[in-house]
Amino acid sequence: MPETPSPRLSILITAGPTHEPIDQVRYLGNRSSGRLGLAMAEEAARRGHDTMLLLGPTPMSPTETTHIALERFRTTDDLQSLLRAHWPRFDVLIMAAAVSDFRPKFPMVDGKIHRLASGLTLDLEPTPDLLTDLASLTRVNQTIVGFALEEESGLVPAALEKMDRKKLDAIVANPLQTMDSQTIDATLLYQGGRREIAPRGMPKESFASWLLDRIETIQLKKQREIGLG
Ligand code: CTP
Repeated sequence: MPETPSPRLSILITAGPTHEPIDQVRYLGNRSSGRLGLAMAEEAARRGHDTMLLLGPTPMSPTETTHIALERFRTTDDLQSLLRAHWPRFDVLIMAAAVSDFRPKFPMVDGKIHRLASGLTLDLEPTPDLLTDLASLTRVNQTIVGFALEEESGLVPAALEKMDRKKLDAIVANPLQTMDSQTIDATLLYQGGRREIAPRGMPKESFASWLLDRIETIQLKKQREIGLG
């Protein structure tokens, strides 16, 4: 029997690291490749969803053949502005970006810090939590899915705490080794206590499809429940 195609959704995806400037030539970053978020965007576009990808500073980019609206960001501030501008018109947010938790408090905007025999201490300040910041813009008929990258021990409790604190519909819990890797060992945790373990060692491209099936289900159920589907 042919599969019933799922209705078209609008899906906003963030992916890749942030780079927080130290001076004009250096930054504070992380090893995120953006691979999973990019795979999610390509899969969403292939399924016919209206797809926008906010992509950080990574050499990866979408293939020319997919219909993805692409915007690039560099810093946490850039990403915050893009999210505030675009999120209100989307049904689903998949927040796969590896946002820096800290940034230099006094970046040197012009020029380069020179070597000092006495060494250098960087003063760091916390970045804003972008998901928490979006809460006031979020409507009941929108779905937000986050990611938690944690040490294997304590992975699930930490992810559950993040899902509640950031008011997410679901969160993908994965161990630290996932960063920069081609495969993923993930557990999907839902609001309400349900959890699903994805097949172990899945290539990120296959996981993107596995996860998108579940995110479509969450959003369509929500739309049906509030009478918009
Ligand atoms: N995130 C965010 N804003 C930040 C940091 C993270 O919106 N400043 C998002 C990430 O994109 C991810 C989720 O929050 O979807 C969890 O990110 P993580 O870095 O694991 O959580 P933190 O809140 O930064 O907590 P901690 O670093 O203490 O584990």
